[in-house]
Amino acid sequence: MFRQLLVLLLSVFLVSSAFAQEQPAPAPDRAATGGAQTLEDILARQRGEEVDNSFRSDAIGNLEGGADPTGQLGTLGGVSDAEMWRGLRFNEADITASNNGPAATVLVQDGGMRWLLFREGPLSSYGSYLLLGTIGALILFFLVRGRIRIDGEKTGQRIERFKAVERFGHWLLAGSFIVLGLTGLISLLGRKFLIPMFGHESFAIIAAGSKWVHNNVSWAFMLGLVMIFVMWVYHNLPDRTDINWLLKGGGIFTKGHPPAKKFNAGQKLIFWSVIILGGSISASGLALLFPFELNMFAATFAKMNSFGISDILGLGPLPTDLAPHEEMQFAQLWHAIVSFILMAIILAHIYIGSVGMEGAYDAMGSGQVEEQWAKEHHSLWVDEVKAKEGSAPDGATPAE
Ligand code: HEM
Repeated sequence: MFRQLLVLLLSVFLVSSAFAQEQPAPAPDRAATGGAQTLEDILARQRGEEVDNSFRSDAIGNLEGGADPTGQLGTLGGVSDAEMWRGLRFNEADITASNNGPAATVLVQDGGMRWLLFREGPLSSYGSYLLLGTIGALILFFLVRGRIRIDGEKTGQRIERFKAVERFGHWLLAGSFIVLGLTGLISLLGRKFLIPMFGHESFAIIAAGSKWVHNNVSWAFMLGLVMIFVMWVYHNLPDRTDINWLLKGGGIFTKGHPPAKKFNAGQKLIFWSVIILGGSISASGLALLFPFELNMFAATFAKMNSFGISDILGLGPLPTDLAPHEEMQFAQLWHAIVSFILMAIILAHIYIGSVGMEGAYDAMGSGQVEEQWAKEHHSLWVDEVKAKEGSAPDGATPAE
């Protein structure tokens, strides 16, 4: 499943950057326009084809190259009007602006339209299909498999599974994630679904409120993420029992339960998904929260190019010269794509931690689980707990 997740992540990554990778069409003959763009260039763009723009982006004149301006018939520099506008268009002009900031001197950047179309099109629709598909699959699973019951006789004895601080960390993470998920979906899809329902004025308030809540609750999520990482990383290191657990499919469709320690392999996959995807969502979220301060994509693309990763993936060289706005556009897309994936994973987690399995919720509710549940799902952990309980405080031999 980990491999599948990796493949999924990679393919998502490819989709997000694919628009920059299309092979340019062969250059048309531009003799008739003296090298300027032709009707064919314009039509090709309208057909959605990638036009190699270097004939324009490179034709921005040469400030140094003009005839001596002080001499007879001297020019005003080596840059014509057309070349100056092309310089502005391709972010090469030497601009002085009255305001500061990395984006201030970028007057034209052309990633915006592609980003907008991707955000409103495939991102919104495939993201929604993923969430609705996951909910559908969980309902189907419930109808086929039913609730996973405690097989044996309940003992009435309870074992402490999670301490108060662990439950606090979990619910901080869970509560904030749910709020962030909902407010994030409002920001992405609200215009489409909420404006028709509530009208523009009400939506303006909902959208502004959502943004405020989303920006501020993100800190709780990051804190929760650090807490559960510190508290649970040790119990989530892979070991031999995981292979057996995975080979037996966690015993979901078979009789009997494969032995597991405190966390079984399925839970470890959830844990590492939360840490890695949650960490990536936090990083891209910080880039969005502090605009133009954390530019990660050009540097990542450069590394992928130099290690040959982009070639192995068949992407060709990835763009490494990104306008500050394009960095933000990539950050937004990555943030949303990874969030959709984690939301789908978490829907499955919520299902199994509540209605899907008898006795599971208590672990995060009261912190105390039925001993029979623990023996069935985490037999090796119960053995460890019993061994510890049996050993006297002075370190005497464990009870048999
Ligand atoms: C209403 C929502 C949720 C419920 C009912 C729920 C329930 C649970 C339960 C019962 C456990 C303990 C399982 C055990 O004893 O073995 C657990 C563990 C865990 N939860 Fe949640 N949870 C929820 C939301 C979330 C969210 C939103 C996240 C992360 C964004 C999350 C992350 C985790 C992690 C990493 C673990 C440890 C690994 C695991 O048991 O899968 N949970 N949760």
